[in-house]
Amino acid sequence: MEINEYFINQRRLRLSRHMRELSATVRLDHKAFIQPLFVEEGLSAPRNVEGLPFVQVDTLTSVIDTIERDLKHGVSKYLIFPVPAHKCESDFDFTFAGTVIKTIRNHFADRVWLASDLCLCSYTTHGHCGILDETHQNLRNQPTVLALAQYATALAASGADCIAPSDMMDGRIAAIRKALNTNGYEQVSIMSYAAKFSSQFYGPFRDACHSAPNTNGLHDRKTYQIAPLNADDALSSALRDDREGADFLMVKPAALYTDVIARLREHTNKPLAAYHVSGEYAAIELLAKEGLLNRAAGHLEVWTALTRAGANVIISYAARNAKEWIEQMEY
Ligand code: PBG
Repeated sequence: MEINEYFINQRRLRLSRHMRELSATVRLDHKAFIQPLFVEEGLSAPRNVEGLPFVQVDTLTSVIDTIERDLKHGVSKYLIFPVPAHKCESDFDFTFAGTVIKTIRNHFADRVWLASDLCLCSYTTHGHCGILDETHQNLRNQPTVLALAQYATALAASGADCIAPSDMMDGRIAAIRKALNTNGYEQVSIMSYAAKFSSQFYGPFRDACHSAPNTNGLHDRKTYQIAPLNADDALSSALRDDREGADFLMVKPAALYTDVIARLREHTNKPLAAYHVSGEYAAIELLAKEGLLNRAAGHLEVWTALTRAGANVIISYAARNAKEWIEQMEY
């Protein structure tokens, strides 16, 4: 058979919107989305965050309005970041975080699903995700895990559906699972930040949570977050968390690490969450602001890539737009 231009067949699949809709290999669904929410103690009015347009840090009152509005747009699942007013180095007070969860739970009952981020970086004076030794050069694993397990129990007692540890200590999933079960919270799930890389792309978030490392000792998170150069560490850490009882495994950042999502997909049957982090979101927002891409289409393209890689759950600062954008998506 002669190969001439009439035999070229791939373009037939691209020829019309109908053909592109029929031949799509992945589809997006707003039900897979989780919206992050920041709630700060002692804040008198909501504040904006540099680098995160359309995202605000809420007060205990304004967060109710935010969720009320979101529910109308098909958002019901949240990742909560409580930002306490008081910072210290140990003996943390988790009262405010509990109050945030309770306040939302009392108002919305089971109309919302609440995961709470579990980390100490917005609690510590030095901004690290755990307890440092006297020299401030080393982050101590075991005392940190102990504090996290207590924190997880307090959040569960306040009505959290899911605990999302983002600290990257060794053994925290097993410790948290044990603490939850011992205290009667067997039904509370764990979404582990399983493959969390030491990334440049958390900048806007650290402004939102006042959580940038700021000590003369340990000055970055490289001794606990995963090196971008080491994909095997990410896989081992994530599968370890899987064995320790995590219900969801998260990869973070997301768009730069689709190779990790795809590899992990081959090795686990747990649902995978992809966290498109603050710096990744900000990059798209800046391009959109400069007129260099279409905002909705830009986010949709990233979400498509994450889904193609194998993510079941997408955490995005633009989750509250997912339903509308997906409905109107141009194939
Ligand atoms: C807390 C935490 C961070 C993020 C989520 N949980 C920041 C960090 O590790 O410094 C980042 C989220 C984002 O950038 O959107 N440890």
